[in-house]
Amino acid sequence: MKKHSVLLILLFVFQYYSVSISAASSNETDQEALLAFQNIITSPSHFLANNWTKNTSFCSWFGITCSPKRQRVIALTLPDLQLQDTILPSLANLPFLREHNLENNFLHGGIPYSLGHLPRLRVIDVQNNQLEGSTPTSLYQHQKVQKISLAYNELSGEMWKGPGYVLELGVLNLSNNSLTGITPPYIGNAKKLMNFYLSGNRINRNIPKEIGNLNQLVELYLVDNQLTGSISAEHCLISHRFLSRLWDTIAFPALSFLMKRILCQI
Ligand SMILES: *[C@@H]1O[C@H](CO)[C@@H](O)[C@H](O)[C@H]1NC(C)=O
Ligand SMILES: *[C@@H]1O[C@H](CO)[C@@H](O)[C@H](O)[C@H]1NC(C)=O
Ligand SMILES: *[C@@H]1O[C@H](CO)[C@@H](O)[C@H](O)[C@H]1NC(C)=O
Ligand SMILES: *[C@@H]1O[C@H](CO)[C@@H](O)[C@H](O)[C@H]1NC(C)=O
Ligand SMILES: *[C@@H]1O[C@H](CO)[C@@H](O)[C@H](O)[C@H]1NC(C)=O
Repeated sequence: MKKHSVLLILLFVFQYYSVSISAASSNETDQEALLAFQNIITSPSHFLANNWTKNTSFCSWFGITCSPKRQRVIALTLPDLQLQDTILPSLANLPFLREHNLENNFLHGGIPYSLGHLPRLRVIDVQNNQLEGSTPTSLYQHQKVQKISLAYNELSGEMWKGPGYVLELGVLNLSNNSLTGITPPYIGNAKKLMNFYLSGNRINRNIPKEIGNLNQLVELYLVDNQLTGSISAEHCLISHRFLSRLWDTIAFPALSFLMKRILCQI
């Protein structure tokens, strides 16, 4: 009796397991998501419409990289193609997607919030398009994302609202948009941040002292914003390698130079 029930449980577990595996391993949803995107995108001489056809596996379509074993889409790489129209939320139906690169196109509309929910996402690069609306908070709450580049678009609103947990983030490029508000203190959570570009926006008030936590930082571009306020000794915790760049971006370079000398003793 006991043996039987164990067997039954095992059978049940096994069945349940295989059902969930097969649901997760269906590659049809990947194809559907890509075709939905292709349907609305305009490319020069219908290049994508001609290449992304059902008679070849989507893994051999231009710009698509699949995982070798599972044959699921892991990268969408379509830079510099003069693509027009919008980034569809359907792209969030690519559960294995790690890299999303649509830089240097003519895409407009918003960045789908759901992209930030892709569990394996590491890189999102949509710089140099005409994207509008706000930057999805979901991207800043993604614990695995390594590169967020939204530079050279028409994004507006606050840089990000609420806490961010960007623990693996190395590159954050938001330059040349119309972002407003403050630099959130949560930036201090991005302990691995190396390149931080915020130039050419309308960010105001002071630079949060939490920026002093970012000891991996090598590039910090803050020019052409509306920053005010002063620098405190806490800011000096950041690596001295690029300190001069930080100070040169503040309203009174001569004064800041003096403050740097005094406060940071360099
Ligand atoms: C694939 O299908 C398209 C139309 O859907 C057709 O134009 C093209 O010739 C086909 N290619 C191959 C290699 O069969
Ligand atoms: C999708 O999966 C089916 C069944 O495993 C397989 O026959 C087909 O080749 C796969 N398609 C692609 C594009 O990988
Ligand atoms: C689509 O593009 C890929 C990569 O350039 C190429 O290898 C493939 O032959 C193209 N397929 C079609 C149907 O044009
Ligand atoms: C940030 O974006 C600008 C504009 O596209 C580019 O010139 C710069 O190289 C980018 N920086 C990084 C670190 O990606
Ligand atoms: C990008 O921003 C920089 C800094 O504000 C500015 O000098 C440059 O002209 C901007 N570029 C474009 C294409 O708007």
